[in-house]
Amino acid sequence: MPDFLEINELAPAELRRILSHAGQSRVRSDMNQSPLSGKSVALIFEKPSTRTRLSFEVGVRQLGGWPVVLSSAEMQMGRGESIFDTAKVLSRFVDLIMIRTFADSTLRQLAEHSDVPVINGLTDKSHPCQIMADIQTFQERRGSIEGRNVVWLGTGNNVCTSFLHAAGQMGFNLVFSGPREFHPCEDAVAFAEGKGARVVFESNPREAVSKADLIVTDAWVSMHEKAEERERIWDTLMRYQVNSDLMAAAPTNALFMHCLPAHRGEEVTSDVMDGPASVVFDEAENRLHVQKSIMCWCLDLLGD
Ligand code: CP
Ligand code: NVA
Repeated sequence: MPDFLEINELAPAELRRILSHAGQSRVRSDMNQSPLSGKSVALIFEKPSTRTRLSFEVGVRQLGGWPVVLSSAEMQMGRGESIFDTAKVLSRFVDLIMIRTFADSTLRQLAEHSDVPVINGLTDKSHPCQIMADIQTFQERRGSIEGRNVVWLGTGNNVCTSFLHAAGQMGFNLVFSGPREFHPCEDAVAFAEGKGARVVFESNPREAVSKADLIVTDAWVSMHEKAEERERIWDTLMRYQVNSDLMAAAPTNALFMHCLPAHRGEEVTSDVMDGPASVVFDEAENRLHVQKSIMCWCLDLLGD
């Protein structure tokens, strides 16, 4: 049974299959019968969450399964039990594991040692479920994302890395506009370019968005990062704030996305968050739909 760990490790045809299923099951209640009936899913959180927790827990229940939500602080893992032993024990109780954790190595070890599929619910390195929901949201509004221009403003973080992976796999361009010291992961850039995606670094944010189909930003300080590093260059970061002036420099049909939680007045202003280009709450809802399809895919329950 396959894991869902990184977008760059999955065949593009499988990504499309998951997205197509998610699009259909969003509107067809007959596809929401109980494929997870009799199955349990462990949802492990080593970091806080609103959307990931809600969307996975509600999603498992809608599919007829039984979610078991665990915070690592409540688990023996939080007191040093090995990932190997944790993986083996979890595999005796559940059919699927979703984990939100810090190090990529924790995710990898869990996947290596567990006998059931593992889903990446965010690490310091990436956030693949989010980007699947984002692509679903874009395609619902604007058709295929292939060949489109996605513009990332701010710091090249874990969410940006998954966007770069998706650029390579789904064939869209990614323009990065942010301070040099926060450029995105070089491996992710190399992956996207190696697959033929165009990755452009444009220091002028107005220039960066001039041909945008989609404008994306995220919090300048992620859960695993130290605020002090960012505070040092706060004025520089403010140049990349997504505000109505910047949106006015973009094509009128450009969409705005943010994985949330947002820091209104920092990386994005409220007029953009609540404005006509914003699809941030569709993105949040689509976590539910696409993750239901990801869970079914992991358990070979997607059908044809
Ligand atoms: N976007 C996202 O993953 O949100 P949470 O941190 O609330 O799960
Ligand atoms: N980049 C953010 C995403 C939160 C969903 C973080 O890792 O904190």
